[in-house]
This record gives sequence, C-alpha cells and structure tokens, in this order.
Amino acid sequence: MSRILITSALPYINGIKHLGNLVGSQLPADLYARYCRARGHEVLFLCATDEHGTPAELAAAKADMPVDAYCSQMHRTQARLAAGFGLSFDHFGRSSSPQNHRLTQYFAGRLAENGYISEVSEKMVYSPADGRFLPDRYIEGTCPNCGYDRARGDQCENCTKQLDPTDLLEPRSAISGATDLEVRETKHLFLRQSALKDDIDSWIDSKADWPVLTTSIAKKWLHDGDGLQDRGITRDLDWGIPVKKGDESWPGMEGKVFYVWFDAPIEYIACAAEWAEAQGKDEEDWWRWWRTDAGAEDVRYVQFMGKDNVPFHTLTFPSTLIGSRDPWKLVDYIKSFNYLNYDGGQFSTSQGRGIFQDDALEILPADYWRWWLLSNAPESSDSEFTWEKFQTGVNKDLADVLGNFVSRVTKFCRSKFGEEVPEGGEITEDGRRLIGELNTRLATYVGHMDAIEVRKAAAELRAIWVAGNEFLQTAAPWTSFKTDPERAAADIRLALNLIRVYAVLSAPFIPGAAATLLEAMCTDDTGWPSDMEAALAVLEAGHGFSVPDTLFAKIGDEDREGWEVRFAGGRG
Ligand code: MF3
Ligand code: ZN
Repeated sequence: MSRILITSALPYINGIKHLGNLVGSQLPADLYARYCRARGHEVLFLCATDEHGTPAELAAAKADMPVDAYCSQMHRTQARLAAGFGLSFDHFGRSSSPQNHRLTQYFAGRLAENGYISEVSEKMVYSPADGRFLPDRYIEGTCPNCGYDRARGDQCENCTKQLDPTDLLEPRSAISGATDLEVRETKHLFLRQSALKDDIDSWIDSKADWPVLTTSIAKKWLHDGDGLQDRGITRDLDWGIPVKKGDESWPGMEGKVFYVWFDAPIEYIACAAEWAEAQGKDEEDWWRWWRTDAGAEDVRYVQFMGKDNVPFHTLTFPSTLIGSRDPWKLVDYIKSFNYLNYDGGQFSTSQGRGIFQDDALEILPADYWRWWLLSNAPESSDSEFTWEKFQTGVNKDLADVLGNFVSRVTKFCRSKFGEEVPEGGEITEDGRRLIGELNTRLATYVGHMDAIEVRKAAAELRAIWVAGNEFLQTAAPWTSFKTDPERAAADIRLALNLIRVYAVLSAPFIPGAAATLLEAMCTDDTGWPSDMEAALAVLEAGHGFSVPDTLFAKIGDEDREGWEVRFAGGRG
C-alpha cells in the first residue's frame, strides 16, 4: 500500500466545461483515483476552479456580475456537475481561497529571497480606446513562432509556445478590436526561469518513464531557440492575488496582481490546505502529502492535464517549487492528453460548440459518458466524438455485453433456482476455462491501469465482459439444466459471482452501474480479485440477490437523430 497524490488540471471558472475538457484531465484522474483506492492505496485526489486572470473577468462582464460573485456561483455550478459525473475529489477547492493567497505570496517572497525574481520595467501594451493596459488574453494577434493568426497574449493554441503579449505580431484588443495600441512603461516581476534551467533540465532527465508527449514538449521549450525564458508573473489587473512578498508589501507593485498561471498551480498545494481545514485536520496532515521533510518523500504524485498545459507543469510550476529551495514535493508522473474533437471540428467554449457537461447529464446518466469518453480517450492522438460512434459504443459495450450478461444470468437463475445463489456441483470444465482466461486478462487489465493506459485498460475490461458472455454461450445452462441441473447450477453460481467481480473491476469506469450491481448482488464486498477462483466463490450458495432493472438502456436511432439536431448549432 502506498500513498498517491492525484491532481487534475484546474478547470477555468469562465463557464460550464465541455466533454473535451472533462476527458482531458478530470475524468481520467478520477478513473485513476478510484482504481488506486480500490487497490487499497491511500489517495488524496484534488481539484479546484482556476479563478483569476482575464478569462474570469471577461466571463463575469459577459454575465453582468461582479467577478467575485460570478466565481462563487460558477464554482458551485462546476462542483455540482463534477458530482454529477461521479468525480470523486477529496476536495474541490478554489484558487481564490485565502490559503492560496497566502501560499502564492509566500512563494513569491521565497523566490525573491533566493534571487529568482527580477523587477523589470516593461513596455506593456496600452489601449487608449479601452483606457487600460491589455494583459495576455485581452490581446490577440499573429504567433511569431508559427504564424497562427488568432494566438493569444499568453500562449499560442496552435503550437503551444508560451508567449508574452508584446511578442504578438499585428496585435489587436480582444475587448474592442482596437488596433491603435500603444506601448507604455510599467514595472513587473519576472520569474528567472533561465537561472533554473539546469535544475529543470536534470529533473526532467531523471523522468525516464514519462510519456513522450510530455517530455518532448518540455524539452522543446528548454532547448529550442534561446532556451528557457524568464516569465512575467504579475499583471495590471484588479482581480487576482495582490502582489506581496510573503506578508510584506512589495514597493512599486501596488495595485498589481500575480499572473493567473503563477497562482493556479500553487492551488494544487493550497487545495490540500483547504482540504485539511474542511476536514478539521492540521497542517501536518497536509504537509505529509506535500513536504518531503514531513513524509511526502513516500508519496507518488501524479498529474493529469491536456497537452496545452504541459509547459506550465514541466517548466513554470517546477521552477516555482525548486526556486523556493523548500522541500516541496515535485510531480512524479504527468499524464497528458491530446484533444477530443467534435463532429469534424474542435470543441469550443467560446463558440459553444460541442456537448457541455450540463446538457450531457440532462440526456443520459454519467456512466454512458464516462465509458465512452474513457474508452475513446485521446491518448496517442486526437480522437473524435460523433453521435453515431457514441451510440454504437454505448449500445455494444454497455447494453449488449455487460448489461445483457447481467440480465441473462439473474433472470435465468430467478426462474430456475429462485433469487439466491444456487447450490450445485463443482466448478465445471467451462468454468475452469473461464477462470483461466480471467486470470490472464485481469493481470493485463491491472498492468494497463497501473500504467494509466486508459484506452487499453478499457479494451481489456470490455474483453473481460465478453469472456463472461462467451462462457454463458458455451456452458448454455438453459440446455444443461434439462439433463444436468447440478452442472447448470454450478455455472450459474460462477456467473452470479462474476457479476460481483464485474462491479469491482468496472467501478473506476462506471461507478453508478457498479453500485447497482453490488446492490443487486446484496453485497458490499468490494475486495479486489487477486485470485479469480477465490473471488468467484465469495457469494456462497444460499446468498440472496435480486434482478436489477435494465442496467443500460440502448440508445435508439430517434434519440441519436434528435441529439444530432439539438447539438448541431452552437449554444449561447
Ligand atoms: N485552467 C487551466 C486550463 O484550463 C489549467 C490550470 S492547471 C494549473 O487550461 F496548473 F494551473 F492548476
Ligand atoms: Zn504558434
């Protein structure tokens, strides 16, 4: 048993997230958290809303609300939707929390003490038309690296290069579209990443087991061109964490706030402090997850995120942690994802294109979405959602394979032996063959789950469900019952037990259905099956069960067509 710290990239506060956001971080993080708990590990699974910066200001302005009220309301909405999808966070925090204010200011102070902050009089873009400086996202223009013409001032979406607003070619105001932008002097703090380059470089070199998608992005920004650049970590905005050096004011920085990408990852730590406070725990209870001088050297820390987040997690945040020269825990493994596309294009929050969390839960239970999204997770390349693929995947895997097995076994048993596990002979030859296959497949499944190979794990789980159906087909208890009821009973006893095992193995993917199955089997034994033969003998003869309602209803063509139409246009 080990201790595993899991964080999902923090969703921006600026609206309800679409399914592409979900499958790129929170959902696979939940899969892994549930799996690790099921294997008996001690897990701390944290997520929070990312509440600062221009996206929050823009969204609040659009909703015609003060930004703090907007954030509180949207945090509650996101928390409710996360619960709806069964995301099992130990705490769902807020980057605007007092804990994060304190920690962010503390880190800035430590970095300054250690010489990793420089104060730079900077020329910043000022928009006379808007009457303000235009930081990062308020500016759009052409990427100097790849030529993409809608790059934002903080990052180019197209090539992932981290940018500063003044890097953009042909810049324009994202508020008013004004192009009469001026450059004016203002003082800002920079994180001297260049001075931490060797530390970061050798740290990344020590991560031989990281996926290529992760290390290649990090190495690219470490070594391409001029190498790792210093990063501006303050902004001329109202909403954010005021720039301070620990508890002290920072001369010359009055009225400025930290850049959202400086404080957001620090919320991973602050969220643990929020969790501790909410649980009535002490500082040492969260330090043992985050400080290597307080027990965290035994923790395995795994982060989940979309590929656009990788530079911030491999370069910026580690620079903050290492530069503090405090014993903070660094990430052990980064699992990053490509994009999920929607029907031939991209999911897009700004254009309301695709399926959003609230709509998804309105039309189908969470397990349908969890299963399809995870079994089609964009791991080695982008993947695509179409309503047809969704319908086929769900109907085949969940209704025809898993649901059908459960229904046939429980209904057959009820009609021939009653609603309890039947007494019967020894495990049959067919049963032995099934146990052999399941043992092999279980080892494969565990291997994929340990390696966080989401699609492969889903495929193996599906194969485990298929094995049950094939066993039923071969053993044909409805036939053997006529001549050899003892044998039929032995096979059905095994199959009923397999329903419990399915619940346990499937719970990380489809927790709702798994709970239904355990309830139908009248058991709360969720013990992980280390040995299949033993696991398939847990429910003994005489143990009661009930026939569950249809586990997964099939998606009909009319439903699919209706949704296709309903979701064809963008939403508001
Ligand atoms: N809000 C960012 C996004 O959606 C992710 C922030 S992750 C953290 O892309 F590191 F800042 F926490
Ligand atoms: Zn670019």
